[in-house]
This record gives sequence, C-alpha cells and structure tokens, in this order.
Amino acid sequence: MPTATHSLLATLQAEAIAALAAVDSLDSAEAFRNQYLGRSGQITLIKRNLKDLPAEERPIVGAQANELSQLLEAQLTEKEQALKSAELNARLANEVIDVTMPGTYWPQGTRHPITRMIDELSAIFAGMGFAVLDDNACPEVETDYYNFDALNFPADHPARDMQDTFYTAVAPNVLLRSQTSNAQIRHMEGRTPPIQVISPGRVYRNEDVSRKKHVLFHQLEGLMVAEGVTVGHLKGTLNAFIEQLFGLDDQGQPMKTRFRTSFFPFTEPSMEVDVLYRRTIKGQVLEDWLEIMGCGMVDPNVLSEVGIDPERYSGFAFGMGVERLAMLKYGIHNIRDFYTSDLRFLRAFNG
Ligand code: DAH
Repeated sequence: MPTATHSLLATLQAEAIAALAAVDSLDSAEAFRNQYLGRSGQITLIKRNLKDLPAEERPIVGAQANELSQLLEAQLTEKEQALKSAELNARLANEVIDVTMPGTYWPQGTRHPITRMIDELSAIFAGMGFAVLDDNACPEVETDYYNFDALNFPADHPARDMQDTFYTAVAPNVLLRSQTSNAQIRHMEGRTPPIQVISPGRVYRNEDVSRKKHVLFHQLEGLMVAEGVTVGHLKGTLNAFIEQLFGLDDQGQPMKTRFRTSFFPFTEPSMEVDVLYRRTIKGQVLEDWLEIMGCGMVDPNVLSEVGIDPERYSGFAFGMGVERLAMLKYGIHNIRDFYTSDLRFLRAFNG
C-alpha cells in the first residue's frame, strides 16, 4: 500500500545513497549529515511528522525511516573515518622535514670590543686570584659619599675638580660615578680581609668629547687588602698583568714599565704606571712613555672609614681606563669609534 510518505521515503533513499557515494571530503560529509540526518534533515523530519500519518501507516513508515537513517549513519561514519585518516596521512606527508634544504642565514653578532677588552682584563686578573665583581655589584648612580668622601676626598678639596662630575637632579648628593673606585668602599664595607677583587664598569665625566675623551667610558678597579701587603706586591702584580696583556716584543722582551709618583686622595703613596710604547712609522722606530693606570697603597683613612684596622691590614689599589687600553692594544685612534655602532668598525673585532 504505497502512500505518499512511502514513495517519498523510497525516493529519498535512492537520492541519499547516491549523495553518500559522492561524499569525498569531511566538508561534504558534514553537509550530507545536515541534509538528511541532522536536526532538520529530511529523514529526521519524516520521523518527527509520523504523528500526522494515519495510524496504520505510522509503524511501517517509522520502521523504514529508522532503518534508512541507521544505514546512512553507519555508512557515513565509516566514510568520515576513512576521510579523516586520509587527511592526516596527507598532512603528515606534507610535513616531512627536508634536512638537506639550505638553512636561512642570520647574521651573527659579536662581542663589542669594550666587552672583549673587559673579559680579557678580567681573565688575566682572575688568573692571579682576583675575584671579578659583576656589573651590578656597584651602582653607576652613586652618592658623593661613595664616589668621594669615603675615598678621602675632603669636602671642597680641589681634588674633586680633577673629575668633572655629573650631578643629578635627584638630590644634591646624587651623581653619576666619575670613577670605579666607589667599588673599593662598597666592597670593603662589612667585610674582613683578605680581599682581592676587580670591578669593571662604566663611569661618567662632564668633558668635551674628543678623539681621546668621552663623557662615558669604562674603568677597571682593582683592590687587594690583607696582612702584610706591600708596594712590592703592587708592582709585581701590575707588571705581571702588563706582560700578559701586551705579550712580548720582537726581541722577546716584555713591555718596559715605569712607576711614577703621583697623587690620588685614596692612596698613599700614589703612582701612575707608564708603558714604553713602540711603533714603527715610515721605517722609523718611535718610543713614547704612555700612562695606562693609576695605583697606590690604600690610604689608612680609607681603611678606617670602612672599619678595617689599618694597623693590622694594608692593601693596594689600581684603576685603569678600558677604552685607553683597547685603543693601545688594537691601534684605535678615536675613542668615539666605540660608541657610533658603525658595523664596519665592530666587524673588525669579529672573533
Ligand atoms: N680613580 C682614579 C681615576 O679615575 C684611578 C685610580 C687611581 C684608581 C689610583 C685607583 C688608584 O684604584 O689606586 O682617575
């Protein structure tokens, strides 16, 4: 007894089976489910409207509709599974990494020549037993106590004018340190000798920038305090350092050094160290004494200030300009070259 719903179901079945055969992607599978089996799919609608059919047709049409939807659902699920695994396989095949492909070239940075110089100086002193204080052990924004007073610079003493200091607007006593010697005070405070440290870092001075001077540069400070430290230890240490830094000349001799009397408020006696710098220009050998650092025996006042007994302990200190040493060692003639970020200059220090 074919009724209208009956033949509709038969047509639908033929249509759906053909449509299912045409499903070839996960998208078309979803469209198929929506069209026939989803919440407002055609077969779902027939099932939902069974109540409008004559009572005797309902069980027959209902059973057929159920059978059809189960059949379609089963086949569709199987198809979806096959499509999913085909898509996964295709993706995996595409994602294979070809390790033989040439890489992308990224230019490599190098250490800045000042960083290299500091590393080199630090390595030499570390080899002689000095501990290397890291950058943040000592503030660059400092108070005049650590930069001057504790280092035995009397208030209003002209020695303060030796270094053209940048004061800040923060407070009248806050400045940009003009020397790494603040490290001596910061490190000795609260410690008991033996002390043997170096402290590299930035310093600032209000100077006219020229080939030789800059408002920002680097120093490396050294300090050794223990019982029985003498000028002999100071000279021995610095001569060994200079020999390692500059190596031997063409006659197999270390660079000649000269310790010249000088003045610093925080050392007594104070000295400056010169090296005999030899160059050959147009076949002529030129020799100059060049000053490379200041040094001296730590003034007893400085030791007392940080609570170290000057009757029991003595020490030496030294301070050198990193740029100056780098210029000497690498033959650089303009200090500004270090700060202009010119890649041609920086690349010359590759390595
Ligand atoms: N702080 C001095 C300057 O900037 C350099 C110096 C001299 C440091 C003698 C020292 C020293 O530790 O003993 O001119």
